[in-house]
Amino acid sequence: MNFDNTKPILVFGGPYSNLQATQAMHHEAQRLCIAPSQIICTGDVVAYAANPEETTQNIRDWGIHVVAGNCEEQLAEGAKDCGCGFEEGSVCDLLSRAWYPFALSQISTASQAWMADLPKSLRFTYCGLDVHVLHGGREQTNRFIFGSEHAILEEESSAINADLVLAGHAGIPFVNRMKRATWVNAGVIGIPANDGTPDVWYALLEPAEDQQHAQVSLKRLSYDHVTAAAIMRKSGHANGYARSILTGIWPSHDVLPQAELDQTGKKLRQRTAKITATMKRVPEVA
Ligand SMILES: [Fe+2]
Repeated sequence: MNFDNTKPILVFGGPYSNLQATQAMHHEAQRLCIAPSQIICTGDVVAYAANPEETTQNIRDWGIHVVAGNCEEQLAEGAKDCGCGFEEGSVCDLLSRAWYPFALSQISTASQAWMADLPKSLRFTYCGLDVHVLHGGREQTNRFIFGSEHAILEEESSAINADLVLAGHAGIPFVNRMKRATWVNAGVIGIPANDGTPDVWYALLEPAEDQQHAQVSLKRLSYDHVTAAAIMRKSGHANGYARSILTGIWPSHDVLPQAELDQTGKKLRQRTAKITATMKRVPEVA
């Protein structure tokens, strides 16, 4: 797999069946002149929103790189639930009992076959950095890893042994420099980041001006969230996520660590961080 080192890479996660957000991301990539070969989706193309099949077809036709999320793994198998691992009876568990059967009922056999063929991870070199892309955790696709969970980030990044990890699943963007890697969660475009705004998030990885390292920027994306919420309500599986798309606050905070919970409703800021090669790389065992 080859990426052009002289051009940016656009990374986004979780389209979540949100066609309006996916179309907006597509238009933003065109505005930035970023080719599909330089775009990565970190998985969960299908989830809460109203257009699972249309969103999947949009992503497929776009021709970008996609790693499988837990939703793709489950839908490809025709499994009975989303595989998020929500605690039995929790709000997330109850909400998933509404959107997952709807998504499964809408998705085509061709899209299920496409999902079954998606890789679990990507590995490539960019601007001298060893880059690893995954959905949740290294061995557990549905592992929620948030920016405040430093011990888990150290454990995972040590095992992955790359300079840069690009991840998804958890839904709130962050950049954390760990001992063995810089961990970037690009955020998701399908629902807001629980920061009280309807905007969604993506990341731009690009060569720095000095050409000595790369940099990553976490970026907001505004889109037609009013239409997205209205279509969700019409779709027959209206649930707390339609309200979330309007308010920017998640319908449940079950999965959030205390630090992220305390940030609920507080507007996230866009930021840019330098990324350098990790000096403490563990040698590969032959
Ligand atoms: Fe996921």
